[in-house]
Amino acid sequence: MLRLRRYRYYVFFAAILVFLLFRVARNSEQWESVSASFGPIRAPRKSLSKTGSSAGNDEPYNGMGSEDAGLPQQILDNTRNQYPTHGPGETLVNPDVADEEPEKSARPATIEEDQVLAYDQDGATKVTVPPVIDIPDKSVGKGAKTTNVHWEKPIENFPVPESEIIALPTGKPNKIPTIQYPFKKESAEAKEKRELRQDKVRNEMERAWAGYMTYAKGHDELSPVTKKFRDPFCGWAATLVDSLDTLWIMGMVEEFEDALLEVEKIDFTTSTRTEIPVFETTIRYLGGLIAAYDVSGGKKGKYDILLDKAIELAEILMGVFDTPNRMPILYYNWKPPYSSQPKRATTGGSVAELGSLAMEFTRLAQITKEDKYYDAVARITDAFYEWQQRGTSISGIFPERVDLSGCNQTAQNELEAARSAQSKDEADDASDDTELDSGKDEKKASLYKRGGNELKLNRQKNPATGQMDVIVEKSSHALPECVSQGLTSGGWGSEQYSMGGSQDSTYEYFPKQWLLLGGLEPKYKELHLETIKAVKKWLLFKPMVPDDRDILFSGKVTTRGEPEADANTDYEVTHLTCFIGGMFGMGGRIFDIPADVEMAERLTDGCVWAYESTATGIMPEYAHVATCADPENCSWNQTAYYQQLDPQYNSRDTQIKNYYKRKAKVAAEKLEKEAAERVKAAELAATKDKIAELKKTNLEYSDSLTEKAKDLDDEYTSLQKRAPTSFAKDDDEDDEDSVPASGFKVTVTGTQTPLVPSEDSEEWKDPSRPFTHEEFVANKIERENLPPGFVGVNSKSYILRPEAIESVWYMYRITGDKKWQDKGWKMFQSIVKYTATEVGSSAIGNVLDTETTQNNEMESFWTAETLKYFYLLYSDPDSISLDDWVLNTEAHPFKRPTAAFGK
Ligand SMILES: *[C@@H]1O[C@H](CO)[C@@H](O)[C@H](O)[C@H]1NC(C)=O
Ligand SMILES: *[C@@H]1O[C@H](CO)[C@@H](O)[C@H](O)[C@H]1NC(C)=O
Ligand SMILES: *[C@@H]1O[C@H](CO)[C@@H](O)[C@H](O)[C@H]1NC(C)=O
Repeated sequence: MLRLRRYRYYVFFAAILVFLLFRVARNSEQWESVSASFGPIRAPRKSLSKTGSSAGNDEPYNGMGSEDAGLPQQILDNTRNQYPTHGPGETLVNPDVADEEPEKSARPATIEEDQVLAYDQDGATKVTVPPVIDIPDKSVGKGAKTTNVHWEKPIENFPVPESEIIALPTGKPNKIPTIQYPFKKESAEAKEKRELRQDKVRNEMERAWAGYMTYAKGHDELSPVTKKFRDPFCGWAATLVDSLDTLWIMGMVEEFEDALLEVEKIDFTTSTRTEIPVFETTIRYLGGLIAAYDVSGGKKGKYDILLDKAIELAEILMGVFDTPNRMPILYYNWKPPYSSQPKRATTGGSVAELGSLAMEFTRLAQITKEDKYYDAVARITDAFYEWQQRGTSISGIFPERVDLSGCNQTAQNELEAARSAQSKDEADDASDDTELDSGKDEKKASLYKRGGNELKLNRQKNPATGQMDVIVEKSSHALPECVSQGLTSGGWGSEQYSMGGSQDSTYEYFPKQWLLLGGLEPKYKELHLETIKAVKKWLLFKPMVPDDRDILFSGKVTTRGEPEADANTDYEVTHLTCFIGGMFGMGGRIFDIPADVEMAERLTDGCVWAYESTATGIMPEYAHVATCADPENCSWNQTAYYQQLDPQYNSRDTQIKNYYKRKAKVAAEKLEKEAAERVKAAELAATKDKIAELKKTNLEYSDSLTEKAKDLDDEYTSLQKRAPTSFAKDDDEDDEDSVPASGFKVTVTGTQTPLVPSEDSEEWKDPSRPFTHEEFVANKIERENLPPGFVGVNSKSYILRPEAIESVWYMYRITGDKKWQDKGWKMFQSIVKYTATEVGSSAIGNVLDTETTQNNEMESFWTAETLKYFYLLYSDPDSISLDDWVLNTEAHPFKRPTAAFGK
């Protein structure tokens, strides 16, 4: 659950900026803005079919002719092999592509077999390409744009030799302790209450589903207020695919089968987006298809199309692993010929995006018995495992940004420096005896020469490891060489560690993968146990809350590499992190650590508290809470809370003192100045009178005197203008004795009135006075609508996220305590109250305000996850029992193994 989607606002705006610059620079493609009310027109597939043999299959399936309730498989089957793959030497030329990707297609578009690089046995990276800047797609939030380019299966540049494919572990699943509480038969009364609640949840699903099918069918998301749609996830009907298993679980079989007619129409080989977001696509689409297949009966069910579509998508996604170290490309430019060019994984990916592909590909490998899908993700796990063993700054867990390129730039620089020193030495040697050795010199130099079209393998000592590495010399298609390394931190200097967005689901998947593999791969258990250890030591904290409720949260630590000395803890509360209760609880059960289950309850209740604290009864997206100095003895202390709300509390009194000092000084200066002006004005008046008199008598009249009089007149006029009004009138008065009494009164400006009247009411007539500590705090609480215990709410929205109810559901299934059903019910009612729209549910802008606005967004996880967890909280505990199923990070249930598997 990065989830990138949950993070996308930051990424999105940054990326938009980069993207705009990028666009302006290349200025070749029109940025089309198509109204959201127009659907994408999918180009007929034959447009690229070189064989032209698509015999009638371009007709969209019309939904008829499936009376036998089986889906028309032949349509799918016929389309399977419709996209010709390229043989060696075939030129891939597509004018559209050439136009759109000028710099990318600058590389020759031919692939010759002898230029295909060998896969490196030790998984190490010997060749590289400059890091690709991921440019998120321009069509996010818009209606789709048509394209007639289709993905074509590329020839792998770095294939894994058949003999080295990592196979699924084989054998009989281990005996794993049960996760669920041994529920007893419930009373009729309890059943009635439960089913009543369950019906209410299903009503929400029915409305949202109908809204989606009416206004957004075939698109990614319904816009639930305007009744339009958006296509942020490649336009492959994200909500529809993501919701399939929910429909099935809720018994909406007719809707499920209707939806399959749409599934059949999805064409994963083309998209309006240039880059496929691999993480989102895997957890939502691939996970959704596989789970729908599993829950509807799998092989024994009658919906093979689900598996067919999952395979179709997986085959495309497999292209992302075609890198020298087999670490995935996270944003896959699927368009030929770019898709087939050699590339490296990024130097700056997020932990979540890298580690959250495991379950989906593993389950697909189990269902299809195709080890290649497992190999793809097992290599990532091995890389994480090796990194955990090698050590990170916070032992056990990984920094948010990861360099997965496999290239050690430091070592590479050293290597190159050494080489140039060496060739300089040789050049010096050569110049000593020019005649004799020039031939030899040339030969040596050519060894290191770049370019040339041959593929050369040389052995070279790796200064980092002391081992001999195979260096692949460049061919015109090769990537620049590099010294291999495992996963490392992708940050510059400071690293962030948390269980929140961009990191979360990698950790979530460790125990879940262990379950999915029947406990046969011990690495996952170790990864999980080390994670939990680190979380307890570094991240967990106890907030200080009004009724001393015993709850926990998991925060974020920033370090520059020496956490014991420089760790900086951020006491954050994020909705995304709320999944952690479920993780602790499930892990505690399957690895038999009761203390972790207890902690899970406190972690889950933390999020429930956050829901209960706000005006709407809904937790905000991202906030900070007050902490206790001593978590062992933590009781509510208003003084301490106020101090955390006002980190400047110590200096407030000084600020006020200084303010009064300054004010007195200003007043004194003003008074002095005005007094001086009065004196001057009086003198002027006298002089003026004198001049007038002189003029009158005509005595000593002269030009110079006239000039002087003029100057004096001017000065007098300007003085008058500057003087306070009360003073201007003095012109004709005999005022030698007048005292400047009222002219310097401080003018009161500004409109802000402090919210809390002080006892000293005189002080309150001066709103420009700085706040006292108490005033500051009262004002902050009022202005920001802060619930007690919160010190700041950084993001007040709620976007229909599932993580809190997810953990509540786990707690109910694990402990059997009905209090969790009741807590969940309050959450449900609040969410419905503020998010429901006529045709679905909408994200809201401000959970701290009962007058909040609806944002017109309904992410697919609302129907895929949030409503599913609510529904399962009130279902019979045998429905999706945690002892039979394991759910991916998008709440898609995969069947746990019951019998021996593997080959
Ligand atoms: C990268 O290379 C440097 C210099 O050779 C070495 O100190 C460092 O340990 C290497 N890093 C990794 C992760 O292998
Ligand atoms: C807990 O804190 C209170 C107030 O600070 C103090 O009086 C009490 O002695 C503390 N108890 C323990 C067990 O430390
Ligand atoms: C409450 O907090 C303040 C400020 O940290 C501290 O001085 C005081 O002793 C605390 N009161 C109790 C009862 O612990």
